Amino acid sequence: ANHAAFANVADTDYADMELRNTAQTAFANVRQQLGKTYLPLINGEYQQTEQIIDSVNPSKYSEIVGKVGLISPEQAKAAMEAAKVAFPAWRRTPVKERADILRKAAVLMEQKRAELSAWIVLEVGKPVKEADAEVSEAIDFCNYYAQEMERLDKGYNYDIAGETNRYIYQPRGIAVVISPWNFPLAIAAGMTVAALATGNCTLLKPAETSSVIAAKFAEILVEAGIPKGVFQYVPGRGSTVGAYLVNHPDTHLIAFTGSQEVGCRIYADAAIVQPGQKHLKRVIAEMGGKNGLIIDESADLDAAVVGVVQSAFGYSGQKCSACSRVIVLEPIYDAFVQRLVEATHSLNIGLAESPSTQVGPVIDANARDRIKEYIEQGKKEAQAALEIPVTDTGYFVSPTIFSNVAPTAAIAQEEIFGPVVAVIKVKDFNEAIAVANGTNFALTGGLYSRTPSHIQQAEQEFEVGNLYINRTITGAIVARQPFGGFKMSGVGSKAGGPDYLLQFLEPRTITENI
Ligand code: NAD
Ligand code: ALA
Repeated sequence: ANHAAFANVADTDYADMELRNTAQTAFANVRQQLGKTYLPLINGEYQQTEQIIDSVNPSKYSEIVGKVGLISPEQAKAAMEAAKVAFPAWRRTPVKERADILRKAAVLMEQKRAELSAWIVLEVGKPVKEADAEVSEAIDFCNYYAQEMERLDKGYNYDIAGETNRYIYQPRGIAVVISPWNFPLAIAAGMTVAALATGNCTLLKPAETSSVIAAKFAEILVEAGIPKGVFQYVPGRGSTVGAYLVNHPDTHLIAFTGSQEVGCRIYADAAIVQPGQKHLKRVIAEMGGKNGLIIDESADLDAAVVGVVQSAFGYSGQKCSACSRVIVLEPIYDAFVQRLVEATHSLNIGLAESPSTQVGPVIDANARDRIKEYIEQGKKEAQAALEIPVTDTGYFVSPTIFSNVAPTAAIAQEEIFGPVVAVIKVKDFNEAIAVANGTNFALTGGLYSRTPSHIQQAEQEFEVGNLYINRTITGAIVARQPFGGFKMSGVGSKAGGPDYLLQFLEPRTITENI
């Protein structure tokens, strides 16, 4: 193998009664703490803010999970100054020491696993099992990037007689991390620890709707011993504080995960050299998808139906990796749609915290309304094959299936980011591949097939960053399925993979004539 072995942590086995009890106790503890205020961490101090917003439980929006102090651009400026002051010592800190802080953070997260997943469930409405898997992913990111930086720190030697040639990596400087709400712990932690492991001072600006979980992560980094100014938690509005940090002349690197619209904007803004700026900024932008799953006539339909249901409706379709187009060969089209509708109909929809829930709410009222508009649009463009009534005490949207969708329809082209799937009929496998590739995105994709020539053709021609054969297309695991896309799905190398940290580093060559 050309990579060092990496041990992923295990998810909670909820079949174990003791662990189920731990989870229940954690929920009770977390419930006791609802409604507290979380303040930004600037230069090692929690700072008061003028603006405070409520973060509510999407399953039951009358419940306030926490109050979050949002920083002003002046406070963002102060954080930037503190990061600059902290950088010289952090870049000199031995890699082993930096890596050990991250490993300590991983140990703390494992200790607090049940509480962290309860916070995820309550703040962003993610069902329990998926929240637990997210905690595992966050822990894996800490351990993996610690290990990866130790590997890279060895550098390379290209010595010849009379001359030594060393190739080494140094940090870039100040990293701004801008994270989304849909993996509020794993993605915020992943980008942040990558930036820290590589020796950059890091400012984390989480999404407004998931800033309580980000505050919990910040507390963990502090407990693990991160020095003041090296890591700062700077919740704020994307349009003001996010944009301010992107445009700041002292920002060296922006690690963004979120929508295509915002990602493109950041990419463009970061390209402008500001007065006083002495470098070009590096942008890593992981953006959306319109991911397709092809089902051919040789597929195991039982497996295909389960795979589509999980990929499309897991976390209510709010994953950049979610399946939102199913491309089905004509001979099995009707049978497949019928079975997909039946399987979807039997999903348990409900409060995210209830252990039997398979589909919870969507994140907020805006998301709910936007998804419902797409559903109305879909009714004009295609045939609604399934819609289920849902309650309105939380932000619920019915899992929705459209059949006979034209590949060019809006619901087959635009990222909806909700539990809506478009099923498209194709005549043959070449057409299936053409339809699958017929969007601006290239994130995940999949194929259910027992035909080796189809599998081979998909491997060669299906243009996605993560291609999955005969399984779900979500749930990538660190150091097993390095994750990320291309085309309009993003720029940058895969999270949880061997090239990811290189983006946070500046390579140097040092030659000595001896
Ligand atoms: P979003 O783009 O609305 O927000 C993401 C972050 O950007 C937030 O922190 C937000 O405050 C900030 N932001 C908003 N405007 C900004 C601006 N002008 N300047 C700087 N920052 C700004 O995305 P979201 O709704 O939080 O997340 C959902 C999106 O994320 C979906 O499109 C999904 O596909 C994508 N996503 C992609 C991946 C991936 O790995 N490719 C993973 C998860 C989510
Ligand atoms: N990494 C996440 C997945 O694979 C988005 O589903």
